[in-house]
Amino acid sequence: MSDTLSTLNWLVEAGADEAMAEQPVDRLAAKAPSPARAPTALAASPIRAQARAEIPVSGDMIGNAQALAAAATSLAELQAALEAFDGCALKRTATNTVFADGVAAGRVLFIGEAPGRDEDRIGKPFVGRAGQLLDKMLASIGLDRKTNAYITNVINWRPPDNRDPTPEEAAACLPFLRRHIELANPAVIILLGAVAARHVVGVSDGIMKLRGRWLEYRVGEHMVPLMPTLHPAYLLRQPAHKKLAWRDLQAVRDKMHAIGLPDTTTQSN
Ligand code: URA
Repeated sequence: MSDTLSTLNWLVEAGADEAMAEQPVDRLAAKAPSPARAPTALAASPIRAQARAEIPVSGDMIGNAQALAAAATSLAELQAALEAFDGCALKRTATNTVFADGVAAGRVLFIGEAPGRDEDRIGKPFVGRAGQLLDKMLASIGLDRKTNAYITNVINWRPPDNRDPTPEEAAACLPFLRRHIELANPAVIILLGAVAARHVVGVSDGIMKLRGRWLEYRVGEHMVPLMPTLHPAYLLRQPAHKKLAWRDLQAVRDKMHAIGLPDTTTQSN
């Protein structure tokens, strides 16, 4: 029994956390010639089978993404455009489109990599274990997602088994992210991890080399200060590096104060 439980736990950790069909499929029995054979997972899952057939991944999906994103004039319109967009293959296997969480008007934007299992289930970024650590990191510098922090990801749909997104998948999401940044109009941007750094500022240096130094991101006519730091999921694996992230967050708080952004400890009611 405990073996069965630990196998199940291991499968869930590995991302095999969804039932593909209403009934279990005995694949050994299915190999035996029998007229009453169990259906295959795909045929038994009409929603998935239909999704596979109906979502085209067009050659001009980047052009489509750019046109849809550019036409959005508010965050709500951008979210609706993203939810209607079928050009990213990841959408076929995801449960939800994960757009953003928090208060854009706080003007402090955090950008992570991609939704994981919990984010896919709930439809919001950073709600799992890494998200709980991110919330503590935010609180340490007077930020929280109900008041003054805004959070999104480079990728809006969960990559199966939490694998790295392919260049095509990232390319389909990037026009939406760029428009997202324009519409959210942040005064400070924090990139969480190397994947965000690679896609947002186009640098492929390791995050250990990039972190802790201010870069700039152009939004329209002005440049926004941008700080790459360590991803909370990495910090869960390497807690000894929390002190590095702490230093980066101190620099973010100093920058917020220098440009007159209140934090929850300085905000007057
Ligand atoms: N990791 C991310 O990069 N984003 C999430 O939303 C959750 C985990």
